[in-house]
Amino acid sequence: MAKSTEWGSRIGFILASAGSAIGLGAIWKFPFWAGANGGGNFIIPYIIFTFTIGVALLMAEASVGRAGRGSAVQAMKKMGGPFFAIAGFIGVISSFIILSYYSVVGGWCVSYLIGSLTNSVLSSDAETLKEGFAVLVSDPVKNVFWHFCFLTLTCGVVALGVEKGIERIAKFLMPLLFILMVVILIRSLTFPGAMKGVEFLFAIHPETMSASTILNALGFTFFSLSLGCGTIVTYGCYVKETTDIPSSSGWIAFLALLGSILSGLMILPAVFAFGLDPNAGPGLVFVTLPIVFDHFPGGAFFAVLFYICLLTAALTSSISMLEVVIAYLGNEWNVRRPRGCFACWIALFLFGCVSALSFGPWSDVKVFGKTLFDALDFLSSNILLPMGGLFIALLTGWIAWPKFKEQLNYVKNRGTAYTTFIHAMVAIIAPIVVLLVIYQAYYMCNNLFLLA
Ligand code: TRP
Repeated sequence: MAKSTEWGSRIGFILASAGSAIGLGAIWKFPFWAGANGGGNFIIPYIIFTFTIGVALLMAEASVGRAGRGSAVQAMKKMGGPFFAIAGFIGVISSFIILSYYSVVGGWCVSYLIGSLTNSVLSSDAETLKEGFAVLVSDPVKNVFWHFCFLTLTCGVVALGVEKGIERIAKFLMPLLFILMVVILIRSLTFPGAMKGVEFLFAIHPETMSASTILNALGFTFFSLSLGCGTIVTYGCYVKETTDIPSSSGWIAFLALLGSILSGLMILPAVFAFGLDPNAGPGLVFVTLPIVFDHFPGGAFFAVLFYICLLTAALTSSISMLEVVIAYLGNEWNVRRPRGCFACWIALFLFGCVSALSFGPWSDVKVFGKTLFDALDFLSSNILLPMGGLFIALLTGWIAWPKFKEQLNYVKNRGTAYTTFIHAMVAIIAPIVVLLVIYQAYYMCNNLFLLA
């Protein structure tokens, strides 16, 4: 990788990585996922995981990137030999797979943003909204068209380059995202009855705490910090020598967590205030929220703001996934950025159609009892990402610890207590918990297989 490709500033790196972290995971999945998993029971382990294993693995990925100075494959190979090149390659493949279906959901966001601008997505009738959403996802032409639009935006930004495209858009969109979230949150919290939503989100019910809630929280921590598929390794390779990786990683983890919590606080109180069902699952932001927006004066305006948030968050994340693939193509195969983006645009469009069509014409095609969309999500989030996390942990904890430690102390000298804590996290704790997550995925697969 040419040394000249670098973030212009530390804040650029932090915002781009936070942009990668805060995505559909935070705004679309977190509110209903936290709800489905028992509110506080889920959030407490999520916070603990974020500031222990999560932050340690963020530092590990960013350090591998900067020390290896290359794409995920090259950086991991330089640090740990050919075996780890394969691990890096799995990261490239997972990024590609995740992006292919992420772009389909991103397409729904584009569609709802345009719908909110033309005032055609709001209604007080739940059935109309449900049907509108069902038509969007099951109509092959519509679904594929919006997927195409979202993908075009993603490829366009990445084609502009790291500093001129990714960093510039993150510096503009991330502050905008936070401002909009706070504006909507204030509106949402000031509805009468809103506090029930806050309670639902944070209340802890120790009696219903279960192992699967904790493992779900762990899986979500990985997904929400963009760990395990080379994203932060790739972004880390553009980090300047003068940037302090530990403190930057702390900021990224903090902003990612803040993004999820703000999103829960902007959505759930409003849903409760209007007596709607918080357990609407994936339809929460596309079916339930339009009812909320329809219920109060100025709601149409808030709907536009909300769908801008959603699209912004999705876009800064999809960009980071594409960059993993583009860095790999440039590094290993000397493919120039615009050409790589063009090739990925076509390949991802075609592959993404598999997920897009799995809501309509291909809804009967099942793998392990799941639709193709769900199966790809399961494969990547529950199997490939934890595996990627495991490889990074083994690499930095066992094989290349001295180099990782050097990166931790690069700008500022940390005490032994600090480095020992991080070492324990990546060498022992992270591998153990990741194996547990993989075991849970395997167990669920087996169960499904038995049921089938
Ligand atoms: N973190 C993003 C979200 O919450 C998604 C994402 C971007 C991601 N890059 C990733 C997830 C890499 C896993 C791995 O929506």
